[in-house]
Amino acid sequence: MENFVYYNPTEIYFGRGQEEKIGEIIKKHGVKKILFLYGRSSIKKIGLYDKVVKSLKEVKIEFIEHGGVKPNPILSHTLEGVRKAKEFGAEAILGVGGGSVVDEAKAIALGVIVGEEELWSYFRHEKEIKEALPVFDILTLAATGTEMNGNAVITHDETKEKLYISSPLLCPKASILNPELTFTVPKEYQAYAAVDVIAHVIELYFSSDYCPKIQARFIEGLIKTVMETTEAILENPKDYQARAEFMWASTLALNGLAQIGFKGGGFHNHLLAHAIGGLYDLPHGACLSIVIPAWMKWWCAKNPSPFERFAKEVFGLSKAEEGIEALKNWFKKIGSPTSFKEAGLDEKAVEETAKITVQIALVWGLEKYYNFETTKEILMKALS
Ligand code: NZQ
Ligand code: ZN
Repeated sequence: MENFVYYNPTEIYFGRGQEEKIGEIIKKHGVKKILFLYGRSSIKKIGLYDKVVKSLKEVKIEFIEHGGVKPNPILSHTLEGVRKAKEFGAEAILGVGGGSVVDEAKAIALGVIVGEEELWSYFRHEKEIKEALPVFDILTLAATGTEMNGNAVITHDETKEKLYISSPLLCPKASILNPELTFTVPKEYQAYAAVDVIAHVIELYFSSDYCPKIQARFIEGLIKTVMETTEAILENPKDYQARAEFMWASTLALNGLAQIGFKGGGFHNHLLAHAIGGLYDLPHGACLSIVIPAWMKWWCAKNPSPFERFAKEVFGLSKAEEGIEALKNWFKKIGSPTSFKEAGLDEKAVEETAKITVQIALVWGLEKYYNFETTKEILMKALS
């Protein structure tokens, strides 16, 4: 294994009823005033909003609200949150919702410290994060792993660049994971979530120069769990055990544990997916299921051995190409698109995506792989 340092400061409160402790948990951290961030309507529909307000009031935590975070959160709404938090004197940010809400909470937590003018330069990786307000969250959609990592992804309203920040300082102080709060996640979002979790663990598995066996086996176990539990959830959305295992798998997939010990590698499929997501505002998992089979075919031609292993260990198949096809068919089966055309996009979208991928690749340090021609070649495999 390669050398690594693993550190994760997030406390996890997992299971039924944990959300009722939110006020107490925040108080324990010495915080008295917060910005309470949420999405458009789901937390009110499932009765979670009322529970949060009650819990905060019980321990006399003062709060100001900032609702309306949209999926693929945008910079302008984030900056509005920064202004509100500053005016109110918020000492921490509480995000209640899916990955988009928690990501925006982290971005606001940084924005309050560095100021509205400077915030985007951190997404362009021009500056180092040195401080942020504490973040707390109650997660209602299991997918991104944001509840136990230091990443946040935001789209710039005008340039359509979808970029990320990352720092241990942005890891939530505490995250509440109650699988029951995910019972109402719509089926299509459950499918996108499954694709996203699988994507998080296959990135280094396929693209690194060396993948330790313990990591390969851990990852294959996560993928099989995600596939089994997703099928059970689509069949019965209130299957608690399936929701619970899926939720924990999604946390483990991107809390750093599945990414250590590798030599090299990068988040190639995420690069391509972020380009599509920023341009066309499609759900993140849908962008991933469009690009993953195409990218796999392209990369497999360079290095077939991890793809042979994947075919055998995950699907019991002998050839690399069969494993790629089996994963694509599974994405189709659960209802996530596997081509630009299925997502209502055409060849012009392929060209636009290739152009913006080249720009993002420079920020991510993956420019040696992705010039316009190569990127277009990969994406054309995903056209129909
Ligand atoms: O807006 P509301 O009404 O809350 O509805 C949301 C939204 O429409 C709904 N939803 C959430 N919980 C629900 C629910 N509906 C019913 N019942 C519930 N319990 O689901 C929709 C999608 O929510 P969203 O938060 O956008 O989904 P997700 O958790 O997949 O987050 C996606 C965002 O996270 C980023 C993505 O790029 C995307 O912007 N990612 C963040 C990462 C990270 N921080 O580490 C890594 C990922 O690779 C990813 O890039
Ligand atoms: Zn992802």
